[in-house]
Amino acid sequence: MRVRVLGSAAGGGFPQWNCNCPNCDGVRKGTIKASPRTQSSIAISSDNINWLLFNASPDILAQFQRFPELQPGRAIRDTAVSGIVLMDAQIDHTTGLFMLREGKTPLDIYCTDMVHEDLTQGNPIFDVLGHFCGVSWHQIPTAVGHTFEVDGIAGIRLTAIPLSSKAPPFSPHRHDPHEGDNIGIQLEDTRSGKKLFYAPGLASIEPHLLPFMQQADCLMVDGTCWTNDEMQALGISNKLSLDMGHMPQSGPGGMIEALRPLPATRKILIHINNTNPILRDDSSERQILQQGNIEVAFDGMDFSL
Ligand code: MLT
Ligand code: MN
Ligand code: ZN
Repeated sequence: MRVRVLGSAAGGGFPQWNCNCPNCDGVRKGTIKASPRTQSSIAISSDNINWLLFNASPDILAQFQRFPELQPGRAIRDTAVSGIVLMDAQIDHTTGLFMLREGKTPLDIYCTDMVHEDLTQGNPIFDVLGHFCGVSWHQIPTAVGHTFEVDGIAGIRLTAIPLSSKAPPFSPHRHDPHEGDNIGIQLEDTRSGKKLFYAPGLASIEPHLLPFMQQADCLMVDGTCWTNDEMQALGISNKLSLDMGHMPQSGPGGMIEALRPLPATRKILIHINNTNPILRDDSSERQILQQGNIEVAFDGMDFSL
């Protein structure tokens, strides 16, 4: 299985258009060691021909341009995208769907009932797309252990794992969490037996997640904030990382501590907020990650499992 990071930043991207935090200002001016990043999405393939997208970020057109394999050019209109899995209904994970409206056939979209509800009510993207290419919805059941496959993506078995994070601000049930608002996904290559666990939004490591995280050869997990009050400390917003459904990396109960005992050979943080000091290649926080064998995803990161 090949994994390609299309976008590694959280909502807003890096730099964020209206932000002058030290990271955004520094990357804009070229005064810090850091690379710009687009919003959160990965693509996977088992044959290097057909690709499955995870999320459709508002930066999707730029992401496609930087990864020509998504455009094989076999016909006058063509795409290598076999389907799109949505991890939640958040703006940074779904609004890129509008950019795919020229599709010749309905978009094959895999998501839970809850995400389907948010994308037909709070932010009715699916209804709007009905006036263009249309959507062919494949329901992802949230029963733990349920596996599914995607047409065109041979030999990859997917398991959705409901997890605690947050429904989007526009969701009719933002403050009343429902199973399926957010999921993690285990991807198993049935030929090699290798397993990837992907969860860009993760508020806590609930007991039912642990077996999946323990089995994973590669973990790609929530890298949004270093500290819970990161945005408050910068005077940006009153929101805490956990209020937004993202567990911070540092400190007791943080992601670094959670990752430490896990046997995965690769541990990668993804969906990184522009305020996070780990975006600086030479920060002390980045050193702490390196000591824990934890990598920071970047746009264009590409590996096989
Ligand atoms: C989140 O992950 O919390 C949201 O994507 C934030 C956002 O869209 O601004
Ligand atoms: Mn997000
Ligand atoms: Zn910023």
